[in-house]
Amino acid sequence: MCGIIGYIGHRPALPIVLEGLRNLEYRGYDSAGIAICDGSRIRIAKRAGKVASLAAEVEHLPMPGTLGIGHTRWATHGEPTDTNAHPHSDASSRIVLIHNGIIENYAILKTKLERLGYSFRSETDTEVLAVFIGMLYDELGDFELAVRTALQEVEGTFGLAIISSNDPDCLIAARRGSPIVLGIGDDEYIVASDASAIVAHTRRVVYLRDDEMAILRRNGYVTKTISDEYIAPEIHELDFELEQIQRGNFPHFMLKEIFEQPGTFRDSIRGRLLLAEGNAKLGGLASVADKLRSARRIILTGCGTSWHSALVGEYIIEQLARLPVEVEYASELRYRNPIIYPDDIVIGISQSGETIDTLAALREAKLKGATILGIVNVVGSTIARETDAGVYLHAGPEVGVASTKAFTSQLAVLALLGLYLGRQRDLSASEGQHLARELDAIPTHITKILEAAADIERIAVEYADATNFLYLGRGVNFPVALEGALKLKEISYIHAEGYPAAEMKHGPIALIDANMPVVFIATRDDIYDKIVSNIQEVRARRGRIIAIATEGDDRLPALADHVIYVPPTHPLLTPILAVIPLQLLAYYIAVARGCDVDKPRNLAKSVTVE
Ligand code: G6P
Repeated sequence: MCGIIGYIGHRPALPIVLEGLRNLEYRGYDSAGIAICDGSRIRIAKRAGKVASLAAEVEHLPMPGTLGIGHTRWATHGEPTDTNAHPHSDASSRIVLIHNGIIENYAILKTKLERLGYSFRSETDTEVLAVFIGMLYDELGDFELAVRTALQEVEGTFGLAIISSNDPDCLIAARRGSPIVLGIGDDEYIVASDASAIVAHTRRVVYLRDDEMAILRRNGYVTKTISDEYIAPEIHELDFELEQIQRGNFPHFMLKEIFEQPGTFRDSIRGRLLLAEGNAKLGGLASVADKLRSARRIILTGCGTSWHSALVGEYIIEQLARLPVEVEYASELRYRNPIIYPDDIVIGISQSGETIDTLAALREAKLKGATILGIVNVVGSTIARETDAGVYLHAGPEVGVASTKAFTSQLAVLALLGLYLGRQRDLSASEGQHLARELDAIPTHITKILEAAADIERIAVEYADATNFLYLGRGVNFPVALEGALKLKEISYIHAEGYPAAEMKHGPIALIDANMPVVFIATRDDIYDKIVSNIQEVRARRGRIIAIATEGDDRLPALADHVIYVPPTHPLLTPILAVIPLQLLAYYIAVARGCDVDKPRNLAKSVTVE
């Protein structure tokens, strides 16, 4: 979703801001813009489309100055046009800002301002805020005070970077709901919506909390609340390297991240798996160990891919710990006045740790007295900070919009959690040891699956012209079917549906003909024979079958058009292996169709608006 970058220091701002925008491109956007202040005047350049075309345009413009801001916009209010792109300025073009989030009372503010004679160029809520701050500045004569006063009046969410030509030694950043990170350099500061735009310059960062702002000047900075109370900033060290957000030799981040999975999975279980005891040690949950022991129910919540891991988590935890688990879309949970008891454990699963629906669902659960936990990848993210306790994925930055390595790491953590909760209850040591050994072997299995990438690519090319796909799985592999379908539709724009295989005959079977590819997750487990029957049903209707099977399976080659093998593992862990070929299949199909895999249309990596 929208990206923010701002710079104040002694170096030319333009290249730093442009580079920052490139590092934020992965979040998903449809227009981009920059503003640079040369000490007395602010020059703005913005346009719909990619950062590369903005960069090509500004190369020929004089944009000197050591103070600047830049933005990638993902349209909410108003189409992605040059005019609607950020930055936006006030009526006199002295105050210029970029904004992530939504100003919910913008219509009321706009009407008030129009009555006072102000006019607007764009259809955005952001311009209303800029004009409002400008009006307050005229009244109050102080930049910071004008910003603070405006922010106390606005409703909704914001991550902001604001500059003023009347105060060229000042960059103001503020947040409510949309993340803002400050990079603390030597006599220079970078403001960004995520740390990937900062790490090239400094590893020292401060995360703003809701209703906080930072006033950054070349010789120092302060952080305070928007009601003017000073706050001592907490400085954190970034825990990732610049190379981790670079593509290396891979043509796309998504492929790089798919291939990283043996390592990222290992990183997620490292130090947490107690092989001899058949248990897991999750340091981040130590403070809530008693609550976990006495919990009578767990609610898992998330969005998109993270919701799919929650569905797998339900199978894992219920089976290992015999503890009831409910899974809810975060966006639904937050609005339906859910029945939540104080002894419930509500776990938000989120790669970014910033998804607004997941955050809001957790806040709702907290209000109702539950213990709230986070399974999050991004260190220092809002969900990580607001939850009572949690477990980090340690999967490293995920740049590809379509989530891959975060998914398998979420499953790693959920399996560790299932093991831990199980051993707190009646899972035997020997069963625990078996699962722990199988978890430990997963990275080797993933490596083996990845070795067959070229075969999967050949299959993908055959199906690149398909217009529909059906993905079917049963039990713990049903969510894998959902995830396989989601990956395909996200990046190839082919319509794809995931279904429990047995449900096929209650509807989707009507779709099956010789043009319908059907992907079956048909690994060896208790319900293997049932799924083979479902495959027969598709075959009888001449559907084209791609089967994900367990190595050594000798029945499926006679039934399916293509068989992709995964090594045998504990049945509860098969989703971790079965999803890898589905990620590759989606990737190669999208590439064959010429799609922009890392930046699929309309999607955003981190959805910070409702
Ligand atoms: C967006 C992304 C999805 C992601 C979902 C949840 O929709 O495009 O790939 O699964 O958000 O994100 P989270 O960061 O909370 O896991």
